[in-house]
Amino acid sequence: MEKLRIYGGKSLKGRVKISGAKNAAVAILPAALLADDTCVISNLPYIDDITVLADILHEMGAHVELDREGTVRINALEMNEYKAHYDMVRRMRASYYLLGVLLSKFGKAEVSFPGGCAIGTRPIDQHIKGFEALGAQVNLEHGVIKVSADRLIGNEIYLDVVSVGATINIMLAAVKAEGTTTIVNAAKEPHVVDVANFLNTMGANIKGAGTDIIRVMGVETLSGCEYAIIPDQIEAGTYMIAAAATGGDVTVTDVIPKHMEALTAKLLEMGMEVLEGDDEIRVIAGQRPRKVNIKTQPYPGFPTDLQQPISALLCIADGVSVVTENVWEARYKHMDEISRMGGKAKIEDRVAIIEGVEKLSGAPVTATDLRAGAALIIAGLMAGGMTEISDVEHIDRGYEEIEYKLVALGADIERVDENGKARRLKLIQSSYGEKARAIL
Ligand code: UD1
Repeated sequence: MEKLRIYGGKSLKGRVKISGAKNAAVAILPAALLADDTCVISNLPYIDDITVLADILHEMGAHVELDREGTVRINALEMNEYKAHYDMVRRMRASYYLLGVLLSKFGKAEVSFPGGCAIGTRPIDQHIKGFEALGAQVNLEHGVIKVSADRLIGNEIYLDVVSVGATINIMLAAVKAEGTTTIVNAAKEPHVVDVANFLNTMGANIKGAGTDIIRVMGVETLSGCEYAIIPDQIEAGTYMIAAAATGGDVTVTDVIPKHMEALTAKLLEMGMEVLEGDDEIRVIAGQRPRKVNIKTQPYPGFPTDLQQPISALLCIADGVSVVTENVWEARYKHMDEISRMGGKAKIEDRVAIIEGVEKLSGAPVTATDLRAGAALIIAGLMAGGMTEISDVEHIDRGYEEIEYKLVALGADIERVDENGKARRLKLIQSSYGEKARAIL
């Protein structure tokens, strides 16, 4: 198990390129199995969730070539496997998208119940309700979800909760169904729109993605295509928060500023300067952040995946902030860790009351899930002394080259391998005048 060591107190400065969106990519990769030709998908983040998923699709018989630049070629013409076993999917929560895809492709699917981040109960009853409404039979046997249908027929499905996963999974299952499927109370997240755009590029007929009513008019075939994934809203937000946390001046590049509006509004409320360009955002932190209240909501509300990083930042805000987590229960495990660094928070069910302190002090802490890990990085960057974060594999699931990007911004950070050997990075100047990386 690797660790990250951060020597805090350095102001982050510079530009950081944001990778492709993890949560779009984990749906678009399996969706490519529906094409009757090769799909070439670019701007994938090179992170563990994607390499694991590429392995799963390969093991299931698809032809998958993933390169280090984040482009994948997928061809599933010869694939005939409709089962995804536990040892394949246990490392990946989003493997539930295989249910919708395989049901659409083969009329049947058997997928082990998903693993992934431990952030409270993660039911999939709305996914199942959607499959059943399309005419599928769904059974859970020995931890395996079995779905099958002779024919999938379009229907109207009202989601009882706004669910990203259910919205996407129903689109995937309905894309080749007979007739029209209407998803009411659909999720509006940017990655829902990205998946719909990808399917439409393959020849699907989906309208309304990005609003709360999505209509999927079934088509007979989907063809191969080329597609570039949108930038990762949560990665961008994490670096924007890191800028605010370190009194820094950071420009996140290759982003869609509109996707960041909820966070931008909160950073402005905290007293930060935020400058938006066409595809970049600069955050300049001139002062100690002011306290703010945050309520997480489905998009376009404040994203739950940035709740953990921003509540770390609020630990040093001037005043008492109230954070309400409306999407997930038990999403404050990072605050227990930050309290070991001097953070002061009272957690009551879904509410965290955070009393800002002047400074945190570095300590050994453990990442319990992906975004908790991001929160601990923020805490470590702003703390005095050394913070050592264990269970870094959670962070590697979702952040591409995080320590490279942070070092390039001026952070003092190193990775410690399972034998306790520390690897430091330093930036070198290449003959082209561009920054290259070297491992010391
Ligand atoms: C996705 C994101 C995750 C993010 C979450 C909310 C991916 C791979 N992950 O997760 O990072 O935190 O959206 O923005 O895209 N629910 C039900 N029944 C269901 C499905 C969900 O009750 O069948 C509830 C959940 O318990 C939760 C809420 O709905 O309270 C939102 O969940 P959902 O949007 O489905 O999250 P995921 O798609 O799993």
